[in-house]
Formats: sequence, C-alpha cells, structure tokens
Amino acid sequence: MDFFEAVQRRRSVRKFKPELFPDAHVRQALTAATKAPNSSNTQTWDFYWVKNPDIKKKMVSACLSQSAARTAAHLVVVTANPKNWRRSQKPLVEWAKTSKAHPRVVEYYEKLVPLMYTAGILSVFAPLKWLIFFVIGLFRPIMRGPATRRDIQEVAIKSAALACENFVLAISALGGATCMMEGFDEWRVRRALGLSYSTRVVMVIGVGYPDEAGIWGPQFRLPEAEVVHVLD
Ligand SMILES: Cc1cc2nc3c(=O)[nH]c(=O)nc-3n(C[C@H](O)[C@H](O)[C@H](O)COP(=O)(O)O)c2cc1C
Repeated sequence: MDFFEAVQRRRSVRKFKPELFPDAHVRQALTAATKAPNSSNTQTWDFYWVKNPDIKKKMVSACLSQSAARTAAHLVVVTANPKNWRRSQKPLVEWAKTSKAHPRVVEYYEKLVPLMYTAGILSVFAPLKWLIFFVIGLFRPIMRGPATRRDIQEVAIKSAALACENFVLAISALGGATCMMEGFDEWRVRRALGLSYSTRVVMVIGVGYPDEAGIWGPQFRLPEAEVVHVLD
C-alpha cells in the first residue's frame, strides 16, 4: 500500500472486530514507531505492548473503559521520559565517534544535551536558564528553552507523539486499524505498568481489525484554506 493510501485509510476506530490481529504486524509497526524523528535522537520514549491479561484489564479500566480500549486486540502504550537521555548518551557518543559525525556532535552529546535536559528539582535552574537565553537572545537568535521541567517534558512528548503517528500509519498500511487515546487516568496507567512519576503517558493505542460500527461517519476536516497558510 502506498503512503497516501495508508494515510487515507487511517481512521480512529472505536470498536474492533473480535478476531485476532497478527502479532507480527504489531511488531513491524513498533519497529516503524522507533524510526520516527526525535529530538537530538535521544529516543526518550518507551513502548509497552500490553499482552498480560491482568494488566490489560487494568489498562481498559484506566482508559475509562472506552470501547476502543475494551474491544482492541492489542493495546500499546507510548510513554515519554526526559530522564531517558541518560540511556542514550553513551551509545550516541560512541555512534558519533565511529560514524564520521562532525566533532561538535560528540561535544553536543557530552555537554549540551545534559544541560538541555536539566532543570533541577522543582525547576530551580529554570530562572537562570531563562535569563541566559534572554540575554543571549538580545544579540542573536537562540532557542529559548527548554528551561522548566515542563518544557523538558514537552520536548520528550513531541518526539513520542511522532512515534505514535508512525505506528498508526504502519498499522493502517498493514490492513489494520487503530485508535489513539489520551482519554485515560495517567496515574492509574502508571500504576498498572509500574512506571515512575517522571514518565509521561503520551498515548494508549488500541489496535485491531475495524468493526464498521467503530467508524463514526466520514472523516471531517476544516477546509484546507483555513488551516494551510501559504506565505508568498
Ligand atoms: C492526542 C489524541 C488523543 C485522542 N484521544 C482519544 C480518546 O481518548 N478516545 C477516542 O475515542 N479518540 C481519541 N482520539 C481520536 C480523535 O478523536 C480523532 O483522531 C479525531 O476525531 C479525528 O478523527 P480521525 O482520526 O478518524 O480522522 C485522540 C486523538 C489524538 C491525536
């Protein structure tokens, strides 16, 4: 299936058929998810494919018993944790040293990435970071963040959301259907999966074959002219 067909085919499906959806397809889509572009390639995301029936039951309840979760053949949870930069730092430095990357890339991963991902407890360093960005920004263009813990989470969440999109498009290309869900109790999802409080639950994705009743009418979008702005 070509890319545009997969995009056209994808709809949010709120009810799935009871038949099994192949594990191999989920695996392939997870691989596609991990290929998503992500901030500084720090890959601060994680993917939890919930197979355990007890955990799945808890997940359905944490997803407010939405039918998209209840009827899904598979549930995949995508999380973001900025602290995961530590997991990637050493392999990224190794990669930079062995892959003819510019020498500044090594320095970037060794020095700048730790600074970028540090806000201190209760964002104590944030005002200082903000002031530095502000003063430098008076003289030249500069990225004005991330400064606060929230800003840093946002960076990780953006990347994880891109992985979600890769995942759902891959499932679509493989003939399946999905529903991305942010309608969940994050605290209960963390508890069901045994996750730390620094982990943000970005999306729970239901996967399966679509039941016709699970598609709520034709796709609605605002006219392109209202949202696409061409600046000539
Ligand atoms: C961030 C995000 C959160 C969503 N949360 C839910 C949800 O909790 N439950 C649900 O049924 N659909 C959810 N959706 C699906 C949207 O409602 C859906 O994408 C939108 O209505 C457009 O429909 P379409 O995906 O079929 O084009 C979510 C989608 C996104 C991107």
